[in-house]
Amino acid sequence: MRISVIGCGYLGAVHAACMAKLGHEVVGIDVDERKVNDLSAARAPFYEPGLENLLQEVQQTGRLSFTTDMSAASGSSVHFICVGTPQKHGENAADLTFVDGAVHALLPYLSDSDIVVGKSTVPVGTAARLAEVLASSGSDAQLVWNPEFLREGHAVADTLQPDRFVYGVREGSEDHPAVNVLDQVYATPLASGSPRLVMDLPTAELVKTAANSFLATKISFINAMAELCESAGADVTLLADAVGMDDRIGRKFLNAGIGFGGGCLPKDIRAFMARAGELGADQALTFLREVDAINMRRRTKVVEVARELCGGSLLGRRLTVLGAAFKPESDDVRDSPALSIAAQLQLQGAVVTVTDPQALTNAARRFPELHYEKVTEDALDRADAVLLLTEWREYLDLDPYIVANLVSSARILDGRNALDPNKWRSAGWTYRGLGRP
Ligand code: UDX
Repeated sequence: MRISVIGCGYLGAVHAACMAKLGHEVVGIDVDERKVNDLSAARAPFYEPGLENLLQEVQQTGRLSFTTDMSAASGSSVHFICVGTPQKHGENAADLTFVDGAVHALLPYLSDSDIVVGKSTVPVGTAARLAEVLASSGSDAQLVWNPEFLREGHAVADTLQPDRFVYGVREGSEDHPAVNVLDQVYATPLASGSPRLVMDLPTAELVKTAANSFLATKISFINAMAELCESAGADVTLLADAVGMDDRIGRKFLNAGIGFGGGCLPKDIRAFMARAGELGADQALTFLREVDAINMRRRTKVVEVARELCGGSLLGRRLTVLGAAFKPESDDVRDSPALSIAAQLQLQGAVVTVTDPQALTNAARRFPELHYEKVTEDALDRADAVLLLTEWREYLDLDPYIVANLVSSARILDGRNALDPNKWRSAGWTYRGLGRP
């Protein structure tokens, strides 16, 4: 099939490459010329494991191209909307400028049998509104909402073989012509077992926000337990292991630490609350305010633990922060708790050095006032305390005996509860986790 993908960020670039891998002829369209140039040269414009190899592989087939010219969408029968929906400045609501802009820019190039497929995360009601935009433009193109659930760091696998497809169509009917078209687009993963659910437009939009709210709630739940463990002298990691053995609960997403960040969970729960307010259903989501508050308290907590670890004052202390990305296997620093903690420590008088295997360029753009070191050993040089804030494999593999020779004081704060405390303590380190004695 001929497919256009509008927006080539963390979602769209991967989607475009994966659709080409599935055998389709794909054009990716983005307003950012640098991104388009990178992608055209089969270079990933951001770090995502497997993406660059995939770009190289599919570009050799001639089925994948990128451009800044929207008219290239003409001739495609399926148009995926993959642009961002960031948080509005000074408000909780989502900024839909890019989604609206993309749909309007696409209108002149649509044919009547085309389908426009929304993948961006949007407030419920957006799809119905955009369907009206299509209808009132005189086009017979159909709008489908097909939310994307990919995780950064696993985006290629999550796109090629997702755990489910959700198709939102008007009336929620299997007979809607767009269902058959999307089935052809996703024929390969459907054949190898990814289930698909057809539903109405608002339910499809809500599936995405509900899923992200549940994940955020799960993380904040265990972080609330960490607060209790801190007060009661208990260990949240053992608690999570034991609680998670109940398969109704499950161990995944029960890792207590510095809390969640990234371009999705924080802004999605806020946009969800804002939208519920508009719909007169704000009471239903007041718990998400608490989820958000628990999450933000973790950042303050880490600063306090770091201060204790340094003997009561951060002033002039040399601190090494391991990790800037919001999670490992990503260079994304949007709302990264690691980076926000690093900046807070610096504001409170510490001399902070941040290192990360992939995210330093993005981090320096966001917080130019922090000091960055590419090489882990250089970053650790003469540190008064080390903070592990993003659990990259290479940090988990550090040898505490070797690191002890690099730092001034062998003190470590494990913001992800990802290190083995016994190993570090027996190498002479003062170890502090979060929610553990
Ligand atoms: C998330 C959803 O998982 C995905 O389905 C959706 O499409 C987009 O949002 P992503 O933002 O890539 O994906 O990250 P995710 O793996 O969910 O992690 C989010 C944050 O939670 C990270 O900062 C991570 O470090 C943190 N986290 C995760 C925890 O603090 N504890 C956990 O147990 C799990």
